[in-house]
Amino acid sequence: MPTAEQCYVIGGGRPLRGDVTVSGSKNAALYAVAAGLLTADTLTLTNVPRIADIEEMAEIMRLLGSTVEIEGETVRISTPVITSTAPPAELVMRLRASFLVMGPLLARNGEAECVPPGGDVIGSRPLDVHFVGFRMLGASVSRHGANWRVEAPKLHGARIFFDYPSVLGTVNVLFAAVLAEGHTTIINAAPEPEVAMATELLNAMGAKITGEGTPTIEVDGVSSLHGAEFAIIPDRLEAGTYLLAGAATGGDVRITNAVPHHMDSLVAKMREMGMTVEAGEGIGIRAASNGPLQAVQVQAVPYPGFATDLHPQMAAAMTQAQGISLVHERVYDNRTLYVNELRKLGARIITAGDTVIVEGATPLIGGAVRALDIRAGAAVVVAALAAEGESTILGIGHLDRGYAGLEDCLRGLGAQIERR
Ligand code: EPU
Repeated sequence: MPTAEQCYVIGGGRPLRGDVTVSGSKNAALYAVAAGLLTADTLTLTNVPRIADIEEMAEIMRLLGSTVEIEGETVRISTPVITSTAPPAELVMRLRASFLVMGPLLARNGEAECVPPGGDVIGSRPLDVHFVGFRMLGASVSRHGANWRVEAPKLHGARIFFDYPSVLGTVNVLFAAVLAEGHTTIINAAPEPEVAMATELLNAMGAKITGEGTPTIEVDGVSSLHGAEFAIIPDRLEAGTYLLAGAATGGDVRITNAVPHHMDSLVAKMREMGMTVEAGEGIGIRAASNGPLQAVQVQAVPYPGFATDLHPQMAAAMTQAQGISLVHERVYDNRTLYVNELRKLGARIITAGDTVIVEGATPLIGGAVRALDIRAGAAVVVAALAAEGESTILGIGHLDRGYAGLEDCLRGLGAQIERR
């Protein structure tokens, strides 16, 4: 018997107020778990979010020979021997970060083979940056049926230019470069905080990398990495989602553990919208409503620009801002499907190419909507919290993939939200 799909039922129209502590970063934690393949020793990760994507990644690692123990927010990975270099297609197709096993398998065992990874359907998501990097390090890349195969008896350092600062591409190539012989320079690397954290983790495991958090990363290859204990950074995207829910509901939300310098673009835009924002050591980030929100224009671009993974939630908040707001999406070519869901709640929102145009402030009215992917799901939650009356949100499996304890965090801020 198929089990009934779970949903959230949200009673909206209440300002969110209070403090919330966010979990460790979903994406950074996924990179850190994959890094466990790079050493025969034990890697202990703390502050790992309790989300479905981490369970899936752990399952993939187990099938490659790792022992992965998950105990609350601590994950211990140990891979004395890699027993397979080909993760199963059905798991790889469930999450995009699964492709991050390729770099470590190539570096440690000289080969890896897997299907193109799955992930959110938000646009064409090529892999050429990964392959350019692997090839420059001396690997051959070929297609075997449905699989990509990379192999190299030995990797050597290289000067590598990325056409685009791909986040996973940077991490995958770094994973291979740390164990390559000689010096590697990556030019046009992704400077996202999650990538910088992965670099710090690799250094804690004995790698020699400089330039983390900048577009040029330098790596001196080492012959092996050792175990480490490492804490995952707080999730800036989860933090941004709650801050925007606070803005949309006319509330006052503080993220106690937000790292302010990871969130400059959001803080700037929230101030422009008329929120009072305090940010700093000991505060985290607090954003308080201060009269009606004002319309703003946002471009979603790579870090340190406004995060594409906060675009849908920002558009949901914009429905409550006076005037015409715009979000111009410049990372993905199919991120705007959530717009139809927001319209079901009464939002005056349209797309023109990759630009989303929002007219506000519009009173939203509760209704039935669907979470289409993780961030599209977060956007309908933000809108439902701002809407008068009851909303039902279907497809919340997407939210479970990326938000640990979403309903508890929102309830702590005074929201009426129930999982059914
Ligand atoms: N791109 C290329 N060539 C490549 C790879 C990417 O041109 O070889 C372009 C594509 O146009 C693509 C864009 O770069 O649309 C972004 O792709 P990128 O490779 O940077 O994204 P990713 O590494 O696949 C990670 C996050 C995404 C996040 C993006 C951008 C993980 C598991 N995923 O994906 O997170 O949106 O970086 O910041 O870390 C999410 O958390 O909801 C999510 C989708």
